[in-house]
Amino acid sequence: MAIHSLILDSFRNHTQREFSFSRGLTVIWGENGSGKTAILEAIHTLSFGKSFRTHKQKELIRNGDESMVARGQFSIGTQEDVIAAQVTKSAGQKFKLNGKILTGRKELIGRNNVVVLSPEEQLVTKGGPIERRQFFDKMFSVSSMEYVEILQKYSRILKQRNAALVAVKENRAPLEELKSWDNQLVVAGSKLWDLRLGFITEFKQNLISMSNRYDPNIQFELFYLETVPTEENYKNKIKTSLKKDIALGRTSVGPHRDDVSLRWDNRDLRSFGSQGEHKLSLVLLKLAEMSFIREKTGIHPTLLLDDLFAKLDLERSKKIVSLLQGLESESGDPVQTIVTTTDILNVENSGLLSGVKESKTYHLER
Ligand SMILES: Nc1ncnc2c1ncn2[C@@H]1O[C@H](COP(=O)(O)OP(=O)(O)OP(=O)(O)O)[C@@H](O)[C@H]1O
Ligand SMILES: [Mg+2]
Repeated sequence: MAIHSLILDSFRNHTQREFSFSRGLTVIWGENGSGKTAILEAIHTLSFGKSFRTHKQKELIRNGDESMVARGQFSIGTQEDVIAAQVTKSAGQKFKLNGKILTGRKELIGRNNVVVLSPEEQLVTKGGPIERRQFFDKMFSVSSMEYVEILQKYSRILKQRNAALVAVKENRAPLEELKSWDNQLVVAGSKLWDLRLGFITEFKQNLISMSNRYDPNIQFELFYLETVPTEENYKNKIKTSLKKDIALGRTSVGPHRDDVSLRWDNRDLRSFGSQGEHKLSLVLLKLAEMSFIREKTGIHPTLLLDDLFAKLDLERSKKIVSLLQGLESESGDPVQTIVTTTDILNVENSGLLSGVKESKTYHLER
């Protein structure tokens, strides 16, 4: 997959700008606030129908303007896509794929995949269970239509069951009403658990192999459920927590409560990790995500590496760069990579540009 060009119109701080990207490496450098992350955010929006920084699409509109447009030209083999996103203050958001207006973001998901590493994404290692679940759910959703569908189905049933719990609590509905939701929830939840466990088990292999390539001496591990509860067990747990769930007005058992724990050097990363360990583990998770998506879809996603060198010392930066270069030479094709940095010296010192066949550099000014 490759993005060839991007046009921004009133997107964040960019009034009107056009960028074209190398099929290999593009480096975007510039001082704080020059709009580097905004460019990656626009590409991500065209790929996934959402920013990775905000759920409020209107924040993307340049202050003082009425609307924004981002338009990108993508290709996979012979498939060429022109994707446009428009957000208007009065009318909300709209997506177009090759000139046709889409009814939602679903048609974009999984079509032109990108993997983004950004300081905003550090919550995957530093945040709570929700942020980690979102990381896995997103990776599995762009890799498998079956996963998106079951995830959406489960979320819908969960929402309805939670609404029914509140109705029962407020004596607006009889207890029986919950029964039908409970059965549907268990069926969809079991399916989701099955798929998630299968994918996480595969992803673990990608993570082990990426960590080993980076440095065989580091210990970076991921823990998740060993087995999925049987439907009977699941039903019993729902039954046992019924009183509590009615009091809370929400469902306390199920895959929406999953956590995946990460351990670095045999210590819980979230509680004990240093800044550099958090950053390094995020880089490895993202590179493992890239190889997972590639295995599942057969297509290499574009890598968006925002502030790649921040919080990494020179030795670790060099090791990451040689890992990236190794991935590239192995796959034969160039792995399209867009890197941002505040300091072009990082690019030179880490060796990022050495031996690269196709590259392009942009300098942004405020
Ligand atoms: N809707 C908006 N309208 C106008 N300006 C905005 C909007 N949203 C963000 N900005 C500003 O745009 C600038 C660019 O932000 P961005 O995060 O892309 O910068 P950056 O180059 O990634 O900086 P850093 O190196 O600090 O990460 C910032 O000054 C930010 O305050
Ligand atoms: Mg930034």
